[in-house]
Amino acid sequence: MIPKKLIEHIKSAKTPLYFYNMQLLSQTLEQLKTASSKYGYHIHYALKANFNSKILKEISRIGLGADCVSGNEIEKALENGFPAEKIVFAGVGKTNDEILLALKNNIQAFNCESYQEIIIINDLAKKTGRKAKIYLRLNPDIIADTHKNITTGKAENKFGLQPSETEKFLQNRDNLKNIEVEGLHFHVGSQISDMNVFKNLCFKVNKLQNDFYKKGLNIKNLNMGGGLGVDYLNPKENAIPDFQKYFDTFHNHLNLKANQQVHFELGRSIVAQMGTLFSKVLYIKEGFQNPFVIIDASMTDLLRPALYEAFHKIENLSNTNRPKIKSIYDVAGPVCESSDVFARNISLGDTRRGDIIAIYSTGAYGQVMSSSYNLRPAASTLYSDEYLF
Ligand code: LLP
Repeated sequence: MIPKKLIEHIKSAKTPLYFYNMQLLSQTLEQLKTASSKYGYHIHYALKANFNSKILKEISRIGLGADCVSGNEIEKALENGFPAEKIVFAGVGKTNDEILLALKNNIQAFNCESYQEIIIINDLAKKTGRKAKIYLRLNPDIIADTHKNITTGKAENKFGLQPSETEKFLQNRDNLKNIEVEGLHFHVGSQISDMNVFKNLCFKVNKLQNDFYKKGLNIKNLNMGGGLGVDYLNPKENAIPDFQKYFDTFHNHLNLKANQQVHFELGRSIVAQMGTLFSKVLYIKEGFQNPFVIIDASMTDLLRPALYEAFHKIENLSNTNRPKIKSIYDVAGPVCESSDVFARNISLGDTRRGDIIAIYSTGAYGQVMSSSYNLRPAASTLYSDEYLF
């Protein structure tokens, strides 16, 4: 339920506007902490989901580590209170400068994605007189029940070491003196709600790590990645994901060796529901099937519907006092692209120019994926602990 006072505020505020519910973030973090500490699991927040500094400070304050995929993300994490020894660095295309930055800051580990990358990290570590701690990111070839653009753990995806590359590394590892293998890393995809996917991942990991032990590699850590989905259909009813069910799945199915530590890299499940994109209706326009509601937000503010046909719940907050009518609309933005559509065939009630529209669950992969296409201005930002003043 959006408070009346907030709706009043938005009436005169510049839209589109990203609103962040900081109380919900705190509650989410509390539940995450309770659920993960039951098993002593380590959580690294995936900055890519939302790198807003105010949000990052809150997440680092609670003691989470960071999962970064660029040198800039590493710097941002450090600036916002994440200690270097809790930062991990993934990505298939780490540049020399980024590797050097990570080495200089002595981060926890590199999640390595190719044999050639390992060679380069070893060389740069040698040149700078350091030892780089690495995880081998393995491609477990798992089918994640999610959109094809956000599945990462299938054999044909670009992520992780193919078995042939892992083999090359194992054969040459004695020559790579500036590398220390800290563990194995996996990430099978994002927005996964079926726990069977994670259960299957556990089975794969149990087998894979046994193979490594047989080859004489001691695995101190397992990083199981992120991927826990959120409820985009019912954001109010399910504002906080079921972290306990998620961690229980790993606890029940992962065969751990003595003293082995388990890490996760959650992004979406921590920040998605805290964000709402507010927009105003510019025009109601006749369409071929349904009328179009043209709003002042577009794919440059929220790319997910255009890129993944993602569903976000949308409501009109201005028509509560109007007679209830069944009206079906398509909701679109102003950008010159046919894919700049937020939803089709949705019931919004009587909708008019100037009405306030809420697009829910936009805290993750929302504002951070925005662009200036069509030279559109950036959306403004408002936090729940600020609008009352
Ligand atoms: N770790 C790695 C190595 C990843 O690639 C990702 C996400 C995560 C962790 C965090 O996953 P999460 O817990 O957020 O599911 N832009 C897309 C999602 C891309 C996810 C990329 N990798 C979307 O809007 O759905």
